[in-house]
Amino acid sequence: MSTIKKIGVLTSGGDAPGMNAAIRSVVRACIYYSKEVIGIYNGYDGLITGDFGALEARSVANILHRGGTILKSARSEEFRTEEGRKKAHQNLLEAEIDALVVIGGDGTFTGARIFGEEYAFPILGLPGTIDNDLYGTDTTIGYDTATNTALHAIDMIRDTAMSHNRLFFIEVMGRDAGFIAVRSGIAGGAAAIVIPEEKMSTDELIAKLQPGRDSKKASNLVVVAEGGKSGSAAEIAEQINDKFPHYETKVTILGHIQRGGSPSCYDRVLASRMGLAAVEGLDQGEQGKMVGIVHNQILYTPFKTAIETEKAINPESLRLSKIMSI
Ligand code: F6P
Repeated sequence: MSTIKKIGVLTSGGDAPGMNAAIRSVVRACIYYSKEVIGIYNGYDGLITGDFGALEARSVANILHRGGTILKSARSEEFRTEEGRKKAHQNLLEAEIDALVVIGGDGTFTGARIFGEEYAFPILGLPGTIDNDLYGTDTTIGYDTATNTALHAIDMIRDTAMSHNRLFFIEVMGRDAGFIAVRSGIAGGAAAIVIPEEKMSTDELIAKLQPGRDSKKASNLVVVAEGGKSGSAAEIAEQINDKFPHYETKVTILGHIQRGGSPSCYDRVLASRMGLAAVEGLDQGEQGKMVGIVHNQILYTPFKTAIETEKAINPESLRLSKIMSI
């Protein structure tokens, strides 16, 4: 019989489509297993200020299809301090919360790991980030939706690029990871994909774009992941500009549109599976770990491993993109 009777749930860091589906899943799984569930607002800041509210099955009605997070999110500076974490712990004790489910990315799990070890407090994490940069899960909640949003934008840019003989540099999010760029770039037929994991010199990029120029391709799209050593889309465009005089060069930064919108079918199912696995995992004694799905199987990976192990871009994807862009 589990000693966990009351679970707190929060979302932290950058929001991601599917976070609401994850909250709903945690809430309904708790109720299914006769546990109380407490929503904590504004990420770890809410833990520190005691911004808590009880959630019922109906509190999470009609949120499955909504982007953002009903619990709101924050990147808490105070939770980085011992004093902040002490206040958070006191509030958890006062509210008689036995365990936490935190939904977020590597910053969220870093906080969870420190706090969990400091106070021997049971915590499981759900990977909620569009960046897909966490080891221990094939995909993170929000990644599928974000790549589809990016793809939709790329498709629209292609229409106008074609009509004007333009070379477009489209910058996508991902912080230090190129997952969004690679997936949306392949699906969007990019002539080149520039990612942080692979330094691409100006000469290499020119060589990639040259065949298109020689064969009088009407347009060329280059997808650039933010945060790369090769520079931003604007910087790369600047370096390439005069090498391709028959194209007009344009830059589009997709930005935060990639974080919003209704989650895809895939993200809703992923979030629902992971939320249930978090509640069942806590009951089985799992803690200090991230819930992931690898090869369609639920897996619990220690926070340290999930954060610190590099999740590599599949070399097959890069090979595919190269061959398809000739
Ligand atoms: O981690 C998610 C993410 O959207 C990154 O892709 C991006 O670099 C960052 O967050 C943007 O953060 P903010 O919303 O604080 O500008």
